[in-house]
Amino acid sequence: MSNHKVVCWDCGCDVDDPFTNICPRCGGLLTVKMDLEKVKEKKPTDLAKEPIGVWRYADFLPVDKKHAVSIKEGGTPLYSTKALGAEIGIPDLFVKYEGANPTGSFKDRGMTVGVSHAVELGVPTVGCASTGNTSASLAAYAAKAGLKCAVFLPSGKVAAGKLAQAMFFGAKVLSIDGNFDDALALARKMAEERKIYLLNSINPFRPEGQKSVLFEIMDQLQYDVPDRIILPVGNAANIWAIYKAITELKEVGWIDKMPMLTGIQAEGASPIASAFAAKTNDFVAEENPETIATAIRIGNPISGRKALKAIYDTGGYSTTVTDAEIIAAQKLLGRREGVCVEPASAASVAGAKKLREMGIIDRDEKVVCICTGNGLKDPDTIINNCEPIIKCANSVEAVENILN
Ligand code: F0G
Repeated sequence: MSNHKVVCWDCGCDVDDPFTNICPRCGGLLTVKMDLEKVKEKKPTDLAKEPIGVWRYADFLPVDKKHAVSIKEGGTPLYSTKALGAEIGIPDLFVKYEGANPTGSFKDRGMTVGVSHAVELGVPTVGCASTGNTSASLAAYAAKAGLKCAVFLPSGKVAAGKLAQAMFFGAKVLSIDGNFDDALALARKMAEERKIYLLNSINPFRPEGQKSVLFEIMDQLQYDVPDRIILPVGNAANIWAIYKAITELKEVGWIDKMPMLTGIQAEGASPIASAFAAKTNDFVAEENPETIATAIRIGNPISGRKALKAIYDTGGYSTTVTDAEIIAAQKLLGRREGVCVEPASAASVAGAKKLREMGIIDRDEKVVCICTGNGLKDPDTIINNCEPIIKCANSVEAVENILN
């Protein structure tokens, strides 16, 4: 018997059509309702026998792990920082490094579940719109599953590493005139006409896999719930997925407290932070989002209302950081902790620093910053923002002159 059903997040009705991503009755967003009755009889330590990774948490996933299309995603490090935490005034600061996933971002957690479900449904072609990471991840999992894949990318705004991955894994890479929101509108049209099976995070199976980052953090902290989890917000599904994971762990009785979910946006693409400032449950879409953090260059986040619920329900927060703050945080993480993340990911650290300075974060909080993607995804931004390489004559003397 199935351990889940798909329901409308807005009106609550059951949704049986596996190919729709919106409620046929009210047009609302969909979500997966897990039946966790059997899990209530278990303890977290019962999972310890399972291999590390997303499928360790199969009890909380709506796809049978027998059907898993996996490249061994998840199992990423949780770094306890010293120098970084000291520098920004949060001694108990952790970094969850999602850049260590197979394709270098957290998207692999959702994609292993989403593509496994696509295989269960027997679809021939999968597709997505993307600022880059989703396309890289989908292309890899489609390759692994033997499915055709088309990715819709905003023209000229995808970081080199991500583009290279999507091309490398054999997807049809389509450059769409316009930004991510335009590319997503086209991908959704293709899906409505059943020409592709859509694997953007509006597909409710994607966030189900992304819940695993929270499960892992809890395992790594021995179920000592952190006070706050900070992450970048773009299309806004990941913060929702983490919230959903928290509610499910509460439901089975494995935790009794919720971390304050804190969503950080780039100043030039900040509909969620604006809605939070205005204390509203819905957001106003932005027409021309712009930021160096191209991964989160999104003006009309599909899961925006879900993200706001996640933030409000956990007593969390949302704010913006500037591109300069993002680059400074990216370098700080690299030069204090030896961790290389892409600009969108550095937004979480920039946000931690800003909110500490504002007094929103207390010094004694236990804080986890989720760093969503690997720095090598966007080498151009790194090269443009580091000291230039040094031209040096081929002699010991010349080197010594430079080093002194
Ligand atoms: N960080 C990175 C590195 C991302 O690639 C994304 C989203 C986010 C954060 C934001 O996550 O959308 O769940 O709020 N990237 C998508 C993509 C949009 O197409 O790769 P979110």
